[in-house]
Amino acid sequence: MSVSPKSNQQSTQQADAPSQAASTQNQDSNGGNGGNTSYGGNNNPSDVGSSIGSSINSSGDAVQRVKVLTVTTWTPTLFSFTVSRPAAFRFSAGQFVRLGVNPSRLAYHRNNRDHQVNQGNQDLAQQPVPDEDIFRAYSIVSSPYDDSIEFFSIVIADGAFTSQLQHLQRGDELLLTMTPFGFLTLARYQAPMPKDLWLLATGTGVAPFLSMLQDMQTWERYEHIILAYSARSQSELAYVDKIHSLSADFASLVQHPAKFTFLPIVTRESMDGALNKRLPALLTSGELETAANQRLTVDSTHIMLCGNPQMVDDTKETLKTLGLTMNRSGVGNIAVENYW
Ligand SMILES: Cc1cc2nc3c(=O)[nH]c(=O)nc-3n(C[C@H](O)[C@H](O)[C@H](O)COP(=O)(O)OP(=O)(O)OC[C@H]3O[C@@H](n4cnc5c(N)ncnc54)[C@H](O)[C@@H]3O)c2cc1C
Ligand SMILES: NC(=O)c1ccc[n+]([C@@H]2O[C@H](COP(=O)([O-])OP(=O)(O)OC[C@H]3O[C@@H](n4cnc5c(N)ncnc54)[C@H](OP(=O)(O)O)[C@@H]3O)[C@@H](O)[C@H]2O)c1
Repeated sequence: MSVSPKSNQQSTQQADAPSQAASTQNQDSNGGNGGNTSYGGNNNPSDVGSSIGSSINSSGDAVQRVKVLTVTTWTPTLFSFTVSRPAAFRFSAGQFVRLGVNPSRLAYHRNNRDHQVNQGNQDLAQQPVPDEDIFRAYSIVSSPYDDSIEFFSIVIADGAFTSQLQHLQRGDELLLTMTPFGFLTLARYQAPMPKDLWLLATGTGVAPFLSMLQDMQTWERYEHIILAYSARSQSELAYVDKIHSLSADFASLVQHPAKFTFLPIVTRESMDGALNKRLPALLTSGELETAANQRLTVDSTHIMLCGNPQMVDDTKETLKTLGLTMNRSGVGNIAVENYW
C-alpha cells in the first residue's frame, strides 16, 4: 500500500547535541516469561517520591537526572521529546523505562511564578505547584544506538503526569530509571523461527516498534515486517515521514533485509491510502492480510500488540480464533504490552 503522508510534525525545539555516547545493546533483562508485560504499579497515583538527592527513588529503582534536548509537538495532545542519555544506560529495542517529573522544577512553572510576581499578582504567584517526583512508564522510541533517548507522549488533561509533562521545555530535567523493562523484544521469541514480524499499534503504542525498526537486527532477522498503526485521525498518525524512510535508512545496512510494509489505519475520518476499521475487524475480514500481501500463520508469524488495552484484548482474542498462540516462555506467536 502506498501512502503520501502529509507531514504532521508541527514544531521542534532543538537544544545542543548531547555529549553522552552509549552504543552497546544489552540483553532483555526480564526474559520472555509471559504474554502481558504491563509494568505493575506504574500508574498508581500514590507512586510518587520526594525529590532525589540520591539516585534511588521510592520504588527502589536507580534513577538518574536527564536533560530535555528537544520537544516536538504533533497535535495539542501528542508530542515527542528527547533527553540526554546517561553513559551507563543500556536497553533493548522495544523496552520501556520509568520517567519522573517534579512539576515545581519545570521552567514553565518557574517562569509563570516570576511573571505573576512581576505583574503584582501575588495570589497567582502563590498557587501551589506539586513538589514531588511523579513517575510513569514510557516506551523508548529511539534506537539502542542513539546518543539521546526519545519518547512519544499523549497529554491527558487530568492525568497527574502528562498534565505536567505537556509543559516540558528544552533544558528541563527529568528523572530516568536506569533499568529498562518489557518483553516486546526480539529476544523473547525462541519459536517459531523468525520469518514474518507483525507489529500492531494504537496511538502512542507505536513507540516500541519505532525503536525496533531502528535496530538493524530486526531488519536482518525477518523476511517480512508489517507495521499496522491505528489512530483516530490522520493528524494523530505521528512519525509517518520517519516510518517511510526506515527501509531506506536501516534495510540498506544489512545484506538480506526484510521487506517492509506500512499499513496506516485511521478510524474516525477517511484518509487516502489508509485502512479505516479497527484492527480486530481488519483481521477477521482478512483485509489486513490482503493489504500486507502476507498470511498470518502459526508456523512463521511473530506478532506484537501495543497500546490501548481493549485493542490488545480484542485483537489477541481475534488472533487466537485464527489459530495463533500467546507467546509463553519464548514459545508462541503473540506478545503484548498494555499502556493502561
Ligand atoms: C509499559 C508501559 C509503557 C508506556 N509507554 C507510554 C508511552 O510511550 N507514551 C505514552 O504516552 N504513554 C505510555 N504509557 C502510559 C503512561 O505510563 C501514562 O499512563 C501516561 O503518561 C498518562 O499518565 P497520566 O498520569 O497523565 O494519566 P494516567 O492517570 O496514568 O492515565 C489516565 C488515563 O489516560 C488514558 N491513557 C493513559 N496513557 C495513555 C496513552 N499513552 N494513550 C492514550 N490514553 C492513555 C487511560 O484512559 C488512562 O486510564 C505506558 C504505560 C505502560 C504500562
Ligand atoms: N485522541 C485524542 O485526541 C485524545 C486527546 C486527549 C485524550 N484522549 C484520551 O486518551 C485516550 C486514548 O486516546 P487515543 O486516541 O490516543 O487512543 P485510542 O482511543 O486508543 O485510539 C487510538 C486508535 O485505537 C483504536 N482503538 C480503540 N479501541 C480499540 C479496540 N478495542 N480495538 C481496536 N482498535 C481500537 C481507535 O479506534 P476508534 O477510533 O474506533 O476508537 C484509534 O484508531 C482516550 O481515553 C481519550 O479520551 C484522546
